[in-house]
Amino acid sequence: MSGMVSTELSGCAEKLIRGRHATRAFRPEAVPEETMRAIFSLAGAAPSSSNTQPWQVEVVSGATRDRLADALQKAQAERRTSADFPYSEGMYSEDHRARKAAFGAELYGALGISRGDHTARAACNSQSLRFYGAPHAAFLFVNGDGGPRLAADVGAYMQTLLLAMTAYGVDSCPQGLLSFYADTVRAELGVTGGRLLVGISFGYADETAAVNRVTTERAALESTTTFHV
Ligand SMILES: Cc1cc2nc3c(=O)[nH]c(=O)nc-3n(C[C@H](O)[C@H](O)[C@H](O)COP(=O)(O)O)c2cc1C
Repeated sequence: MSGMVSTELSGCAEKLIRGRHATRAFRPEAVPEETMRAIFSLAGAAPSSSNTQPWQVEVVSGATRDRLADALQKAQAERRTSADFPYSEGMYSEDHRARKAAFGAELYGALGISRGDHTARAACNSQSLRFYGAPHAAFLFVNGDGGPRLAADVGAYMQTLLLAMTAYGVDSCPQGLLSFYADTVRAELGVTGGRLLVGISFGYADETAAVNRVTTERAALESTTTFHV
């Protein structure tokens, strides 16, 4: 096996996939409705096991977005967390913890927040519950029994959605933090079924914000991928 075969899409894929970054400061301008429809219908082309498409997507904008941001901040202040998918620090391996620490140092470094500065970190969390200033947020629910295999399908939908946004010039931030307030999101949006996997803030990046210049590296190919022959 030698040589690399490129197609007319290779260059686009490199640009698209490597051109997506988590954005944590947005300008207030809304994404036009037609662009939004194009993005979400493209995301629906995501693969899923037996084409079950076990996602329910709730998109908030305008007054609903503002009301939800207020409700999330209230829930945070009152420590009313409710995660549909359990979280524990124990789920991370040593490798994960090292990457997480390097990422945290990079992010808080860009924000000029020191390790022990809990007040500044809380302010950052609070801003993230306001969708980092983004005019829109999408909430991805796993429907059916909400089990791990269905959640994996919704993960595939998430990445397809993020890339569709990138392709249409829309910036985004997937936010696990938003899933810690599942009951608040459900109550505000009148959602009755499903389990909340993740929220995604989206809009247009504030290019002047230092936080949007955070860069993240990836593990070497050999450390994550084995080619068996
Ligand atoms: C499932 C998931 C949950 C995430 N949760 C958060 C979050 O709560 N807050 C945040 O600022 N970024 C969050 N991120 C963004 C990651 O920190 C980011 O994707 C990672 O550091 C790699 O950086 P990049 O997206 O710029 O390539 C999340 C990403 C994913 C995929």
